[in-house]
Amino acid sequence: KDDRIARISSAIRVIPDFPKPGIMFQDITTLLLDPKAFKDTIDLFVERYKGKDISVVAGIEARGFIFGPPIALAIGAKFVPMRKPKKLPGEVISEEYSLEYGTDKMEMHVGAVQAGERALVIDDLIATGGTLCAAIRLLERVGVHVVECACVIELADLKGRERLGDKQLFVLVSSL
Ligand code: PRP
Ligand code: MG
Repeated sequence: KDDRIARISSAIRVIPDFPKPGIMFQDITTLLLDPKAFKDTIDLFVERYKGKDISVVAGIEARGFIFGPPIALAIGAKFVPMRKPKKLPGEVISEEYSLEYGTDKMEMHVGAVQAGERALVIDDLIATGGTLCAAIRLLERVGVHVVECACVIELADLKGRERLGDKQLFVLVSSL
């Protein structure tokens, strides 16, 4: 297999008991400290998505803002931020999604995308899949076709992939 994956995987730091006991936090900040591993990460996504007629890279706050823009630039797509509530200054549409305790909202600017565009949704990690599902709903509500979702890390035992239904998910590293 691609030996870049092994380098990326070992550059991700796991911090036990953050933000609370029992959680093994997958920390991508150490991946960003390794320029070769960070470049390999971006290159692997670019190799998959260039030439696929994608006009929108939608990045989910916060860490989708790190990986999304370099991919967007490399494939000639625009970057659209999917933000936490009350951060975007213009008119927004929003979607609620469930967290472990309670709910949160995701917002996107009206007019950032047009019906018929083809989008890639990017985030650092998929756990239960609720966050990616909210991003897909936002884009589909305005007539955008979500070609695929992409993450650096998948927490496979949480079965977020199943929650995405028939929506394609591409990940570099799968972890339990
Ligand atoms: C984390 C992670 C994903 C999301 C995945 O973000 O960065 O965005 O959880 O969880 P899910 O698949 O169960 O929905 P978090 O909500 O902690 O916010 P942050 O990225 O702003 O820190
Ligand atoms: Mg997040």
